[in-house]
Amino acid sequence: VSLRSYNSFGIAGQARFFASFRSTDELKELLENPPLPELPYMILGGGSNILFVRNFFEGLLLKNEIKGIQVVREDDQYVYVKAGAGENWHGFVMDCIRNDRAGLENLSLIPGNVGASPMQNIGAYGVEIKDCFHELEAYHLKDHATVTFNSADCQFGYRESVFKRQYKGQFAILSVTYRLSKHPQFNTSYGAIEEELKHMGVKDLSIKAISQAVINIRSSKLPNPAEIGNAGSFFKNPTVTAEKYAALKEAFPHIVAYPTANDAYKLAAGWMIEQCGWKGFREGDAGVHARQALVLVNYGNATGDEIYRLSQRVLDSVHEKFGVELEREVNIV
Ligand code: FAD
Ligand code: EPU
Repeated sequence: VSLRSYNSFGIAGQARFFASFRSTDELKELLENPPLPELPYMILGGGSNILFVRNFFEGLLLKNEIKGIQVVREDDQYVYVKAGAGENWHGFVMDCIRNDRAGLENLSLIPGNVGASPMQNIGAYGVEIKDCFHELEAYHLKDHATVTFNSADCQFGYRESVFKRQYKGQFAILSVTYRLSKHPQFNTSYGAIEEELKHMGVKDLSIKAISQAVINIRSSKLPNPAEIGNAGSFFKNPTVTAEKYAALKEAFPHIVAYPTANDAYKLAAGWMIEQCGWKGFREGDAGVHARQALVLVNYGNATGDEIYRLSQRVLDSVHEKFGVELEREVNIV
């Protein structure tokens, strides 16, 4: 099957086998009757955080299409909502907002599906899913057992979870249950949100207004994958010690950084990449987005390998100029 429409980078290529499943039973059936024995497989969501670096995936791509959104529990404070892994993330967030369920509004317009949201603990504008996560159900691809993970089990970190580390490739996430609040606590700590709300003329703050502010900000700087292929931030924002930060600040007084817990600093990788002269760079169809240097783009016919090699050049030049090692955020396949 052609991969192009299954990855937001728009990388062309083929997968040896492809199947989709709408239930745990269908997944089980597929795993028990593989088209060939010993095939590698990979679970696919919306394809918005992967880069296929080869033209061919020699295995079975399993697209998760488990749907459904339902309230599973409720008390004075919270509503617990369980969503199928194949639900579109932004659609789920909109459903929460429509029903006055607060907590995920800052995460509006993030591409992809619910099932991938815990993979890297998706985050934006001062919120990460771990703040509202309740539990998830996952299917062990070899043991054929369904396991429940609570928040501690997932070992969430900045763009991290146990599913990217020791359990990499072992589970299919089936559903995720979020704990949404009936009494919103607005998070406008991210400067750009405050500015946008003012610009919008919002007087009565609401989760709907915050969602709209986030949508406006995102639309103004992030490329729409339907128009320009990309997978969002290609690298993580690196964390450095206070000592290293002080030295950098001395050498680069305009460096952009945020203090984090335990006396460390998170550096804006986009700023460093821009300083290295990459913003708006293009070679063939591979490039660095002109409005957000942390985003690598495919203008049409770049290969995964071309994007990957460009990312290596960016990484090397940031290392050379700042002595900081960037880490890729996108899943390389
Ligand atoms: P995919 O790309 O399909 O998969 C990603 C990884 O998860 C793969 O390794 C895949 O095997 C695995 N996987 C997917 N679903 C399952 C499942 N059900 N069970 C087991 N494994 C699974 N991310 C942020 O955190 N914050 C942002 O602000 C943000 N902005 C973005 C903006 C743009 C324009 C784009 C294109 C991407 C952005 N991203 C952002 C990245 C991306 O949207 C998220 O990582 C999203 O969660 C990926 O979901 P997906 O369903 O497309 O996952
Ligand atoms: N900046 C530049 N030049 C650039 C880009 C950024 O100077 O080309 C500087 C600006 O000063 C800006 C600062 O970097 O103030 C931060 O930029 P921005 O607010 O755009 O956020 P980011 O750090 O580049 C992170 C996430 C995004 C998330 C936004 C909003 C990571 C790796 N990326 O980007 O997540 O949407 O914050 O919270 O943490 C993603 O993961 O795919 C993603 C898009």
